[in-house]
Amino acid sequence: MRRGRDFSIEIKTPAQLSVMREAGLVVARMLRAAADAAEPGISTAELDAIAAREMLAAGATSSFYGYYGYPATICTSVNDEIVHGIPRPDVVLAAGDVLSIDAGAIVGGWHGDAAITIAVGTVPQRAKELMAACERALWAGLATATAGRRLTDISHAVEQSARASGDYGIIRDYTGHFIGSAMHMDPPVPNYGRPGRGPVLAEGMALAIEPMLTLGDHRTRQCDDGWTVVTADGSLAAHFEHTIAITADGPVVLTAADGGASGLAEVGATGPDGRGGGG
Ligand code: MF3
Ligand code: CO
Repeated sequence: MRRGRDFSIEIKTPAQLSVMREAGLVVARMLRAAADAAEPGISTAELDAIAAREMLAAGATSSFYGYYGYPATICTSVNDEIVHGIPRPDVVLAAGDVLSIDAGAIVGGWHGDAAITIAVGTVPQRAKELMAACERALWAGLATATAGRRLTDISHAVEQSARASGDYGIIRDYTGHFIGSAMHMDPPVPNYGRPGRGPVLAEGMALAIEPMLTLGDHRTRQCDDGWTVVTADGSLAAHFEHTIAITADGPVVLTAADGGASGLAEVGATGPDGRGGGG
């Protein structure tokens, strides 16, 4: 068991954060390219190749490839797969599938990490609601990632948002994380729990918030491939993730094309260009 203060949180300079922003924008483009191609009939291995091409064109390298032996550039998790699905030529998308795409990229030694869940063709209404609830929970967490707040204020905000949306399973076995010169940095960022605990958030910190919700309960199972995580009850899952930096000018969602301005505004918060909070 890790004791409370066995880690120190990496503090980035503004110059380092602007390199992380570049990595974040590469991740956003990788996800966009893969999502645009995710039509019935395409394999998840083809989506991996498309994302890798986008990454290489930007001069970036993968956060995922080779990570504990991980064999691909992105993760593609279909239906009851929650996270860490390995792209495969024999996994061919069909209309009605719910696909989570997770991507990470390194620019100049600095990491970006983000994920989205999308519908392939037409999906049932409850699948759409699950995806929307998960994305809303992410933005509720992102809006809470401001200097002076405590870490579990984010966890609490994510959980409250998810619960307000409906009776969803909130994954507990996997969490968000701090990020910077490595993809996964301590401490973990749970998607549930009481507020007011953990380290105080400060300028120069960057973290990845990543709620995972299900139409069933929170229990998970790992598949025989050593990576793919599925819901224990076979229910549908969604996963959304962004990397966010805490700056003197407010939160910057590094993996959002617009820095998070529109997403934060939608949940009543303001990003770096906003005028809230005394601007
Ligand atoms: N992006 C995932 C996360 O959010 C990690 C991917 S696991 C890897 O933490 F093996 F693919 F790298
Ligand atoms: Co992550």
